[in-house]
Amino acid sequence: MPKALRTKHSLAIRWFHWINFPVLLVMIWSGLLIYGANRVYRIGVGDWTLYAFDTAFAERFNLRFRLAEGMAWHFTFAWLFVLNGAAYVLYLVFSKQWRHLAPGRGALKGAWRVFLDDLRFRRNAPEAEGYNSAQRFAYSGVILLGVLSTVTGLAIYKPVQLSWLTAVFGGYQSARWIHFWITGLFVLFIVVHVLQVIRAGWNAFRAIITGKEVVEES
Ligand code: HEM
Repeated sequence: MPKALRTKHSLAIRWFHWINFPVLLVMIWSGLLIYGANRVYRIGVGDWTLYAFDTAFAERFNLRFRLAEGMAWHFTFAWLFVLNGAAYVLYLVFSKQWRHLAPGRGALKGAWRVFLDDLRFRRNAPEAEGYNSAQRFAYSGVILLGVLSTVTGLAIYKPVQLSWLTAVFGGYQSARWIHFWITGLFVLFIVVHVLQVIRAGWNAFRAIITGKEVVEES
């Protein structure tokens, strides 16, 4: 069958996407440097701990005694993260491309079928034009994570001036807790996203760099 090139991602989307990736990595790394100064979280129930983000964790990843360095990187790159994210969202709104990303009616059922199909339990993922329901949930969800990480970040950055915002998240400690675990969700998103990209293959990866995908002409 003859093949042709079709535009898949606009130049703007590709720039927003690839600026976000290193910026987010710096945000996660510098956030951990700040966290290393006061290590209080773990994954566990009651006395049972699956994993502790404690001193041993901080030493393994060289996070101790680097608070000032972490803050300098975090507060500088936060500007880039917010500006790039805001430009991306505005672009989605004004170009109406949000329609390709927002989950539509029946999306929950569709996402569940994609999930079962991905796990090889059942081969019945619904046919999708553009992003499937699971991708729509993931991509809209990660935008929501970006917004939440920004507002909880502001709540713990200026808890006196923005005391009302800190109160919205249940106070300083609770806003800090939410901010930390949003980072965990970002990491989870990146791992699953990259695995899915590997699974989808070269055509999808090339398209988020060059903008074009190869399609078979009917
Ligand atoms: C090595 C890292 C990454 C690779 C290789 C990668 C690759 C890709 C690819 C191939 C697509 C298009 C998917 C498709 O056409 O089906 C995509 C879209 C997307 N990626 Fe990534 N990605 C990476 C990191 C990230 C990160 C860190 C985020 C955000 C936390 C992210 C968020 C998104 C979003 C929101 C879209 C949808 C963009 C749109 O169409 O508006 N990606 N990525």
